[in-house]
Amino acid sequence: MAKRWYQEHQRDPWRRQAKNSGYRARSAFKLKQIQDKYNLIRQGDSVLDIGCHPGGWTQVAIEVVGMDGKVVGVDLRTTEPIPGAALMVGDVMDPLILDSVLDENDGNAFNSVISDISPNLTGRYDTDQAISLELSTMALDVAVKILAPGGSFVTKAFQGTGIELLVKACKDRFSFVRRFSPIASRNASSEVYVVCKNKKPNGSISDTSPMVEIRSGLEKIGVLSMEQDDTDESVVGFRRL
Ligand SMILES: C[S@@+](CC[C@H](N)C(=O)[O-])C[C@H]1O[C@@H](n2cnc3c(N)ncnc32)[C@H](O)[C@@H]1O
Repeated sequence: MAKRWYQEHQRDPWRRQAKNSGYRARSAFKLKQIQDKYNLIRQGDSVLDIGCHPGGWTQVAIEVVGMDGKVVGVDLRTTEPIPGAALMVGDVMDPLILDSVLDENDGNAFNSVISDISPNLTGRYDTDQAISLELSTMALDVAVKILAPGGSFVTKAFQGTGIELLVKACKDRFSFVRRFSPIASRNASSEVYVVCKNKKPNGSISDTSPMVEIRSGLEKIGVLSMEQDDTDESVVGFRRL
C-alpha cells in the first residue's frame, strides 16, 4: 500500500510541478485551471478561501488579486503563514469565525468565495460523498451570507446523490453556474467543481438557507430521514444519511 502510494506520488506530474513552482499543494493547479476558464477572481477582489490548508489556493488567489486585494483563509488545521493573506483556524460554520472573517474585510461583503473543502476521507465512497455534499452546502451557506451581489463562488463536490440539489441551489442564487473538472483532478477522480458567477441581488433570492433546502430535497428523494432520534443532539448538517 505504502509502495503504491509512493509510486503514484512519484508519477504525479502536478505534484512535481507544484513543488517546482513553489505551490504548497498540487490543488493550486485546479484553481489556476478554473481561473483560466472562468475568470472567477479579479485583481483587487476580496476573497475568502474555505478549507485553505496547506495554502495552495490561497497562494494562487493572492497572485490574482494583487496588492489591492484581500485574501482570508479558514481551515480546521493551522496553515503556515503566507505573505499577504490573513489565515484563521476554525470551523467555517462557527458564527464567531464568520464574524472574524468579515472583520478582516472591514465588515464589507466579499467579491469571491473559493472552497476546496473536503472531509477526512474514509475510503467508503457513499459516506465520503455525503459528507462532502454537506461541506459544500455549508460553503454555499457562507457564500450566500458574505458575498456582495455580483460575487462569485466555487466549491468542490463529488458526483453522486444530492449533487443535482446543490447545483439547483446554486442556480437559484447565481445567474451563471457550471460544473467543471480541471485536468489537474486525478483521472479516476469523481470530483467536480461547481463554478458560480454573478450572485443575484439579495432581494431576488430565497431567504431559506441552502442547507435547509438541500436537506429537505434529500428527504423528498428518500435518502434522509428528518425524524428526531432519541438523543437531544441538534442536527447541523445532514450526516444521518
Ligand atoms: C483538500 S484540502 C484544501 C487544499 C487547499 N485548497 C490547498 O490548495 O492547499 C481540504 C481542507 O478542508 C478543510 N476543512 C474540512 N472541513 C472544514 C470546516 N468545517 N471548516 C474549515 N475547514 C474545513 C480540511 O481541514 C482540509 O484542510
